[in-house]
Amino acid sequence: MDFHHVPVLLQECLGGLAIDPAGTYVDCTLGGGGHSFEIAQRLGPQGRLICFDQDENALKAGGQRLAPFGERVTLVRTNFANILEVIDHLGMGPVNGVLMDIGVSSHQLDEGDRGFSFHQDAPLDMRMDQENPVSAETVLNEWSEAEIARILWEYGEEKWSKRIAQFIVNRRPLKTTGDLVDAIKAAIPAGARREGGHPARRTFQAVRIAVNDELGVLERGLEGAIQSLAPGGRLAVITFHSLEDRIVKQTFHRWVNPCTCPPGFPVCVCGKPQLADHVTRKPVTATEGELENNPRSRSAKLRVVEKR
Ligand SMILES: C[S@@+](CC[C@H](N)C(=O)[O-])C[C@H]1O[C@@H](n2cnc3c(N)ncnc32)[C@H](O)[C@@H]1O
Repeated sequence: MDFHHVPVLLQECLGGLAIDPAGTYVDCTLGGGGHSFEIAQRLGPQGRLICFDQDENALKAGGQRLAPFGERVTLVRTNFANILEVIDHLGMGPVNGVLMDIGVSSHQLDEGDRGFSFHQDAPLDMRMDQENPVSAETVLNEWSEAEIARILWEYGEEKWSKRIAQFIVNRRPLKTTGDLVDAIKAAIPAGARREGGHPARRTFQAVRIAVNDELGVLERGLEGAIQSLAPGGRLAVITFHSLEDRIVKQTFHRWVNPCTCPPGFPVCVCGKPQLADHVTRKPVTATEGELENNPRSRSAKLRVVEKR
């Protein structure tokens, strides 16, 4: 099983985290261990790296890759929404840097039976965490038509959301990703199908986000991460679509400009403290060279802040 994954925006992440060889770092999204390996290589004997993933396959494979670093690396199977509690429990905080490279790994997309890809017929799963009680099958066969239409619109920006939801509900029970692709193709009029790539792309993204509550855990993870950092510690986040990037951008903005006083007030009376400073003012994107070598970097955006 090839778990290799070309780490996206690698040099930019390492630079953004400004790694101190004696520091403690958290990689919230171990995946294939690409970023973690490079962070671990920059640590000295005092340095520590804590790696999270909610996917047990990723943790096994990433763990093997990081084995040469021995006790410098700690692996934890958890959702990064729990970062504050986990770091507390390990007694390893406050930490000097946190990295999040969110979304699915190329390995999860390639693992045919996980149901992430619309190119392979597979059970309706799409769970990153194999213990999650909600799968794509639950969403598609049990949620109401209105609720399905809502997630397709909100998380997939799918303009045929209502029609696709109607076709899904009429074809219940759906068993496989192939059944879902067929329902989508039947719902979208033939003339409109060529717009925006594969007709199932937006629906698959939306169902995956719903199954894994990806936007909710991102919000909780960001709050936990800033609280886990020592003053001067850095938080670097890579996102792959506009819904996630908006959450990161707005959260960072709120930490840097927390004041909620009306614009006309001569002095601040709300007293909300500034939590962070921007390290990157604009999102960092892949260079031409990276885009040529790694198509996955096409939609990646990196934002970094420093805790006050
Ligand atoms: C894009 S991959 C990370 C790739 C990694 N940076 C590398 O270089 O190999 C994302 C990984 O994060 C995991 N993941 C996504 N959301 C998560 C969450 N909320 N909590 C824990 N792990 C998560 C996924 O299971 C997946 O393995």
